[in-house]
Amino acid sequence: MDKIRVRGGRPLFGEATISGAKNSTLPCMAASLMTPEPVLLHNAPRQVRDVATMKLLLEHLGTAASWEENSLRLQADGIDEFEAPYDMVKTMRASVLVLGPLVSRFGKAVISLPGGCAIGARPIDMHLGGLEHLGATITIEHGYVYATAKRLRGTRYRFPSVTVTGTENLILAATLAEGETILENCALEPEIGDVISLLRKMGARITGEDTPTIHIKGTESLHGAEHTIIPDRIETGTFLIGGAITGGKISVKKCNPAHLTGVIKKLTENGCRIVEQAGEIQIEAPTILLPSDVETQPYPHFPTDLQAQYMALMTQAEGISRIHENIFENRFMHVGELLRMRADIRIHDHIAEVHGRTPLSGANVMATDLRASACLVLAGLVAEGDTVVQRVYHIDRGYERIEEKLRQLGADIERIS
Ligand code: EPZ
Repeated sequence: MDKIRVRGGRPLFGEATISGAKNSTLPCMAASLMTPEPVLLHNAPRQVRDVATMKLLLEHLGTAASWEENSLRLQADGIDEFEAPYDMVKTMRASVLVLGPLVSRFGKAVISLPGGCAIGARPIDMHLGGLEHLGATITIEHGYVYATAKRLRGTRYRFPSVTVTGTENLILAATLAEGETILENCALEPEIGDVISLLRKMGARITGEDTPTIHIKGTESLHGAEHTIIPDRIETGTFLIGGAITGGKISVKKCNPAHLTGVIKKLTENGCRIVEQAGEIQIEAPTILLPSDVETQPYPHFPTDLQAQYMALMTQAEGISRIHENIFENRFMHVGELLRMRADIRIHDHIAEVHGRTPLSGANVMATDLRASACLVLAGLVAEGDTVVQRVYHIDRGYERIEEKLRQLGADIERIS
């Protein structure tokens, strides 16, 4: 299994180019199931493993899929399978995004329940509840969801709590339902707006994006389209934190600063000098990093997907920072590994109290989930000596060649098989 070795102590300087957003590419790929015509996705992060996994799932269902550079061409004109099997779904929870499209266009779907993962139970009750409101019949047997519908009917459905892929699944399903659907208490993440933008190009009639209430007027069919995926805001935040934690100065290109207001606000509070331009963010680390408390909340607040990375940064701040993880019940798996690098972090329920500044010591550490792996690489960039991050298949799920991009910024980092 691949590992990443990082030798700490080098400030990062130079430019990093951001890839397309994984969490927009996945629902946009699922959207291609809604039409027999070709869907072309540009700026898709080809080397992100979750994208490869979703491509395999769509091909399993009968979709023709092919890459041309970073453009992915999908055509679901030969769908002859309606089951997302356990072996595929267990490796990627976002497989559940094929549920809405399959029920909506074909009237049937059999999806393995995703089960939990390292960061939490992550049920899909709101996905299923919403589909039942749209008229689907849902049964669960032997770990599978069986969904059928003659034709989905428009409805009004309020999400009991905010769910990103739940919102996406129901928007996808409602585009071919009969009549109008009103979804309330929707998630506001930019990736949802990106999927809506693609669906509109495919002929869907959707209004209300970037608001908690989305209106969808169902149509008889959708047609093919071309779309360029938005930049990955979590990768952007990860690199900004890389510049800050190493005491460097970097420019992050092909990003969208407007998608990181909560993060930029925090890093500014920590004393970083940040300049935003069109498609670019420059960050310069302060000599003394200031501590600050953070609460992870749904967009546009500080994202849970940057919580682990930010915790690594706060080990270098002069003072105590309290990090509240409000989205997932078990997203502190990286703390144990940071403690092995001599960090001083104390957990009280869903709050991690980070005492800094603590000089970190390089060590062998274990990645447990995607963003925890990024946290450990960032910690390795500032630790004394070598850090070897094991199980880096986790990091490859969400980042394209992260070690190459960091090396271009001056990091002493390599992948070792
Ligand atoms: C999306 O996951 C992202 N994944 C996650 O990114 C991200 O951490 C998460 O949103 C929160 O922002 C993709 O977009 C592919 P949720 P999702 O439904 O949609 C609970 C990464 O690192 N919940 O918004 O699965 C759930 O357990 C990944 O790129 C229910 O209880 O998250 C969680 O506590 C990790 N029932 C909370 O809601 C449901 O039916 C938010 O989950 C659905 C969710």
